[in-house]
Amino acid sequence: MKKIIYPGSFDPPTLGHLNIILRASSLFDYVCVAVGQNGQKPSSCFSLEEKIELIRMMLPSKSNIEVIAFQGLLVDCAKAVGAEMILKSIRNFSDFEYEVQQAHVNHELSGLETLYMQADEQFRFISSSLIREIACHGKRLHKFVPQQIEEAVFNRLTIRK
Ligand code: PNS
Repeated sequence: MKKIIYPGSFDPPTLGHLNIILRASSLFDYVCVAVGQNGQKPSSCFSLEEKIELIRMMLPSKSNIEVIAFQGLLVDCAKAVGAEMILKSIRNFSDFEYEVQQAHVNHELSGLETLYMQADEQFRFISSSLIREIACHGKRLHKFVPQQIEEAVFNRLTIRK
């Protein structure tokens, strides 16, 4: 059984993330979406529990996708859940540079390979940080996050202002 782990900050999850998860779920037997903390980013806006709830809300009810939280190193989590590969999404050259470094370190630490996917073209410009900024200015998020979570994400980001 081929199991892949798709880690990220998901702060909040976006249409781009959903696109990657669904496409990966048709390529692999099992996809583990792992919500972690990026040590290079400021502390998250959404809590781990909120992110897990949002991701579960946007996924089909019956699927080969599980959603978990992790702390510590990604490779330890990947081994613990039995993933054979790491999945990352890349939007542009600056993502690429960062992700290549991460992939090398993760491979050195564990032997795990990293597979890259790009979201479908219409989703490639979307980022969680842009979504947070747009909501701060009171604009709705239908074009950027799945409709099942739009209201929850918008309310959460605007209440926090
Ligand atoms: O969505 P992001 O911000 O690109 O997600 C980054 C994340 C959480 C996947 C990455 O920071 C991560 O793997 N963090 C765990 C610590 C780790 O294993 N770092 C890589 C080796 S130093």
